Amino acid sequence: MNGERDLRIVRRTTAAQGVVLLDLERPDGDGLPMWTPGAHVDVLLPDGLGERQYSLCGDPAERVRWRIGVLREAAGRGGSAWLHDRSEGDVLRVRGPRNHFAFQPRPGREYLFVAGGIGITPISAMVQAADRAGVAWRLVYAGRSRGTMALLDELVGRHGDRVQVFAGDEGRRADVQALLDAAPDAVVYCCGPSRLIEAVQQAGAGRGSGHLHLERFEARQLEAPVWTEPFEVELLLSGTTVTVPPDRSILEVVEEQGVLALASCRVGTCGTCETPIVDGVIDHRDSVLSPEEQDDDFAMMICVSRAACPRIVLEL
Ligand code: FES
Repeated sequence: MNGERDLRIVRRTTAAQGVVLLDLERPDGDGLPMWTPGAHVDVLLPDGLGERQYSLCGDPAERVRWRIGVLREAAGRGGSAWLHDRSEGDVLRVRGPRNHFAFQPRPGREYLFVAGGIGITPISAMVQAADRAGVAWRLVYAGRSRGTMALLDELVGRHGDRVQVFAGDEGRRADVQALLDAAPDAVVYCCGPSRLIEAVQQAGAGRGSGHLHLERFEARQLEAPVWTEPFEVELLLSGTTVTVPPDRSILEVVEEQGVLALASCRVGTCGTCETPIVDGVIDHRDSVLSPEEQDDDFAMMICVSRAACPRIVLEL
């Protein structure tokens, strides 16, 4: 259900210290759904380990094989370690793909890609698409050391000095403000740790609408909610109304009522719980939607976002 399928690991390669690339195919060899750069899949893990999101980082034109890059997170909850211990031939349960970080190269546009660490995975697919489309682009790739930076040799080997490398152990730190100032007309796509995302967000604050696209893989720091009282949520499709107290999420309350709501990360980073808004003012607190998308009030992530008024209506 919900686009879930079993996929076999047909190739497992070490891409950098602590990073493996897993190539996945259907056991019957049939084609996989199409995807676009920036898309990710959910990998469903056994033994109560939950789910994890991984960006697709292969070639979108490849129809029978997907590739994900997995960083072993020493301080993680065990999911990435479990995936690292898989071998070729093992089968993973995978849902998706979905894309909240979509990239579509447009003729005449200029692009600046900024990747930090494992954030290179969605960006590498964008680089490939930009290059194929013949648009102007540059990549800034930052990491702790070259040995920890997945796909580095491949990117530098193929694209030369279009790729600017900042390895921390070489004493090179990216001056994000200067890098963005040097490309004032570029559309910026950035994926990486919070510190990098925040630096790019700050440096790119004056850019026009649609010129700054960020993907966080860590939840952003949540501020106090706008509306601090309980609020009502009318669930249009379920024909019921629930009351959400200040200390609970909409997702928790609707699940308790037996309403089917998809969810994965539960911290506002994956987009699985995206729910269309019918009416009401929303306090968007997710790390998925762009500021423009949040202003549109078309959909919300019900695991973290809340009402900013006494009553909202959702298509759920
Ligand atoms: Fe991941 Fe809500 S469950 S954004």
